[in-house]
Amino acid sequence: MCGIVGYSGEKKALGILLSGLQSLEYRGYDSAGISLKKGKKIETIKTKGKVTDLITLIAESNIDTSATIGIGHTRWATHGAPSSTNAHPHYTERVSVVHNGIIENYRNLEKFLKEKNINRRTDTDTEIIALLLDLYLSEGFDFKNAFFKTVEMLKGSFAIAAISKDFDYMMLAKHESPLVIGLSNNETYIASDVSALIEYTHDFIFLEDGDIALIDKGNVTIWDKDKKETKRQPTQIDWSKEKAQKGGYKHFMLKEIAEEDEAVRNTIQSRIDEDGNVFLDEEISISKEFLKNLDRITIVACGTSFYAGLTAKPIIEKYTGIKVDVEIGSEFRYYNYLYSKNNLFIAISQSGETADTKEPLKMAKSKGIKTLSIVNVKESAIARLSDSCIYTLAGPEISVASTKAFTSQLAVLYMLAFYIAQLKGKDLKPQAKQLLKIPSLIKQTFDKTQDKTKELADKYYNYQDFLYLGRGICYPLALEGALKLKEISYIHAEGYPAGEMKHGPIALIDENTPTVVVAHPEEPLYSKSLSNCEEIKSRHGKIILVSNKQSDIVDDFIEVPKVDYDFAPFVYIIPLQLFAYYVALFRGNDIDQPRNLAKSVTVE
Ligand code: AGP
Repeated sequence: MCGIVGYSGEKKALGILLSGLQSLEYRGYDSAGISLKKGKKIETIKTKGKVTDLITLIAESNIDTSATIGIGHTRWATHGAPSSTNAHPHYTERVSVVHNGIIENYRNLEKFLKEKNINRRTDTDTEIIALLLDLYLSEGFDFKNAFFKTVEMLKGSFAIAAISKDFDYMMLAKHESPLVIGLSNNETYIASDVSALIEYTHDFIFLEDGDIALIDKGNVTIWDKDKKETKRQPTQIDWSKEKAQKGGYKHFMLKEIAEEDEAVRNTIQSRIDEDGNVFLDEEISISKEFLKNLDRITIVACGTSFYAGLTAKPIIEKYTGIKVDVEIGSEFRYYNYLYSKNNLFIAISQSGETADTKEPLKMAKSKGIKTLSIVNVKESAIARLSDSCIYTLAGPEISVASTKAFTSQLAVLYMLAFYIAQLKGKDLKPQAKQLLKIPSLIKQTFDKTQDKTKELADKYYNYQDFLYLGRGICYPLALEGALKLKEISYIHAEGYPAGEMKHGPIALIDENTPTVVVAHPEEPLYSKSLSNCEEIKSRHGKIILVSNKQSDIVDDFIEVPKVDYDFAPFVYIIPLQLFAYYVALFRGNDIDQPRNLAKSVTVE
């Protein structure tokens, strides 16, 4: 759950490392550090805190900034509290190492080292890698062979970059944590993902599990898991530098909400023609015969991706006639799920690296279940593990709070429902054509609700508890709206099915607990939601209604554009995301990097 970056070439490495680390801070930001190698000397500077703290420290130091080889790290603590000592790089007299992942057998390895009188100085699992490398170098191995020997001993997940004082190349290893190599003339970049390197190159090699690589300026040598030298084809990624940056917005989150129309448009545009035919044949390698005969779809995901699955469940069921289960990854992996005969497993993940989603996917595969993933980050672990992958084309999502990934995931789930229904001989062209109109409705919603949500956020940001209610298709939106508020404003918020309120949560209602009611005007759900509003009013609770239809019972109204019930989630979610954003803004919080959270949760 960290970001790593590295450079080997002819330019000064320091600036490249620092800007790469800033792009990767969404992966972790409790400490940061760099190591630079010049001649036979490695210098390391690291600190608790953010990359800006590291930059200050470097400016105050007299580190040799002319070095052309270096590695850097931004950390989200797993083993060992955030501190300067536990920050990466971890180093010895001979080597310096950055690592993302967890070395599961570090205790055994520590015992092995202790028997040789070699002791850890930090609380981290990563230091073991540096100590092992140092040991083998001291025994006379060259750096490459010391690295191979070390990696052979490691169990767990890791993306590692290491440099040695006596050798001018850098060694890399990848297993179940992402690591990309950026290619250029006479120089090579490495990072946890492409957003850190997009300003330098568009050509990337995505290392595979078990790969070890040696990089030396422009030369890259890769060995596969069987230690056979191998060639990996570079992939061209055409994300612009600007796309991976804030583009004029104060926060990535607001920029990403504003990009939702574009994200959904990109996701559906090349897959639905103007006549409403859905084309997913190239992406889904699972046989059409199998898809036609599905008797169950099992969706597994976490957080916002889980809510996208929950939101799409009634749509998939309605149009395909196939039963859909939506399960939370962290529960599913320890649960003996009973698959049906013709079961499709779908993993949804923005990052494609979430451990709690990846593990159920592996389990499903091991049982011979056909698997499909819906992923945003290209070539990520979940995308590569599944039989087929449909990418959401949302572009990089940097803000920890997921927004455009949600609507893009919904777009894929809707298209998938229409595609399967199409295979089953149903005519869903009108619905697919309706989906094509959604991006402009999203844009209208953003424009129509931005000022109102800001005004209401100003009014409500001091409250400590919120309730979010919805019925039918609006219920999962209430859950997602509450999640957004919790994540970035640190306000306690609960999402609930509106009809369930009288079975418990109504006890929470008083003048200090406002309720956000998400209600599409479709009857009878709208009238029932209004009855719930009456119950809240009679207990002096304040109500913010998100709807296309006003009511005089409520205190405040966020009006959204008119949209058919089935497509309401694309529209109704926008003011909920904006409201959470502005509440957090008024509270002065660190919106893109909320406390205790990381963008991609690659550990259990
Ligand atoms: C969303 O705002 C969260 N930060 C989080 O719940 C996230 O959706 C979850 O961790 C799943 O991530 P993924 O989509 O990358 O798998």
